[in-house]
Amino acid sequence: MSYIENKVYKFASYLKLILVRCFTVWLESIHYQGRSPLSVIVKMLLNILQLIFYYITTYIVGAWCLLIQICTKRNKIIGIPSQTGKVAIVTGGASGIGFYVSKDLVSRNIHVFIGGKCKETGEDAIKEIKTEFPDAKVDFIHLDLESLDSVSNFVENFLSRNLPLHILINNAGVMFSPLEYTCDNLEKQMQVNYLSHFYLTQLLWNKLAETGTEQSWSRIVNVSSYMHYIGWPSLETLNDRSRKWYEYSSHKGYADAKLMIIAAANKLNKQLREDNSYVTVNSLHPGVIQSGLWKHTLAIHRILMGILGQYTFLTTEQGADNVLYVALSPEVEGQSGCYYDNMKSVKSASLTYNEEFQNSLWNKSISMIENSGRKQ
Ligand SMILES: NC(=O)c1ccc[n+]([C@@H]2O[C@H](COP(=O)([O-])OP(=O)(O)OC[C@H]3O[C@@H](n4cnc5c(N)ncnc54)[C@H](OP(=O)(O)O)[C@@H]3O)[C@@H](O)[C@H]2O)c1
Repeated sequence: MSYIENKVYKFASYLKLILVRCFTVWLESIHYQGRSPLSVIVKMLLNILQLIFYYITTYIVGAWCLLIQICTKRNKIIGIPSQTGKVAIVTGGASGIGFYVSKDLVSRNIHVFIGGKCKETGEDAIKEIKTEFPDAKVDFIHLDLESLDSVSNFVENFLSRNLPLHILINNAGVMFSPLEYTCDNLEKQMQVNYLSHFYLTQLLWNKLAETGTEQSWSRIVNVSSYMHYIGWPSLETLNDRSRKWYEYSSHKGYADAKLMIIAAANKLNKQLREDNSYVTVNSLHPGVIQSGLWKHTLAIHRILMGILGQYTFLTTEQGADNVLYVALSPEVEGQSGCYYDNMKSVKSASLTYNEEFQNSLWNKSISMIENSGRKQ
């Protein structure tokens, strides 16, 4: 680990310790309140303070991450061998980072399946790609990650084509969206970012294993975020429907979901190794990027970002680089259970390596899918 990565990791660990301690103290203070109207108001105020705390912490960590990005030279992908004949799926591949990932894969003669919730955006993306690469093999299949049924329909549609699957890129995401529940009765941010991708990976696991060979491993690439360093999900209350608006932090929800992505990937990696599959699974932070992801932030933030972001943030095209590195680079061949930032394997948050947490998360994820009336 380089000096700067070491410092970042230490800073994130300290910050998380402080955060967890504050969180526990607050929870305890809330728990011991009586039931008088005053105590209800106190509880509400404490919760609101907690939301402010998460809000501020998120932006401090975000600013720190941006500072590192500004001070660090971006690495470049080199030496990608021919990819002709390969097949890839990119969720959210019609816009943002996903679009440039899809376009690059297509330019390397990979048959790309874009999974997205809006048909028009998908068609526009394909049109744009085909203008540059008229012979491109690129298809759109409807995929709404807010619905587990949509995930299984997507997989059914893909499998009916009898194609191999070399690369699965779980890229789509939403950030800081307010508390909402999907048609599966699941909290939206958790389902879109984490659970639906978990389910998609489960359904495509066999296809990936069938396709991978000793010479050319199939790859599962999970787009997580630096924000996962401040994630600390409580599995008991993961989908607690009794929460009020002031008991839900969309900032914490995003960080938690991004942490769960990495923890589940590390658990999946162990299973893949036990099965002797030629499939790898890795996670990554793409960088701080100017994209549609920021639409749920405050207007003032978006205005500031529009002005300052052009000098400090990466473009969506640059944001695709780290994703493409993990999906294609020969340096990553056979490497699994890693977390990449700027094309380097770095340590993710300690909770992502915790076996007890990984196992509980795995079981909880399967039970959430089953309780929505679906099989694993
Ligand atoms: N931008 C950053 O600074 C940053 C930093 C760290 C990590 N990331 C991660 O990078 C990934 C890509 O983000 P981005 O910056 O490219 O953001 P983006 O421009 O907002 O793209 C997100 C993609 O996800 C798709 N999506 C959202 N909800 C969906 C749903 N319910 N079903 C299917 N697709 C859905 C969007 O489709 P529509 O366009 O149709 O909504 C879009 O294609 C995300 O996982 C994000 O968390 C981004």
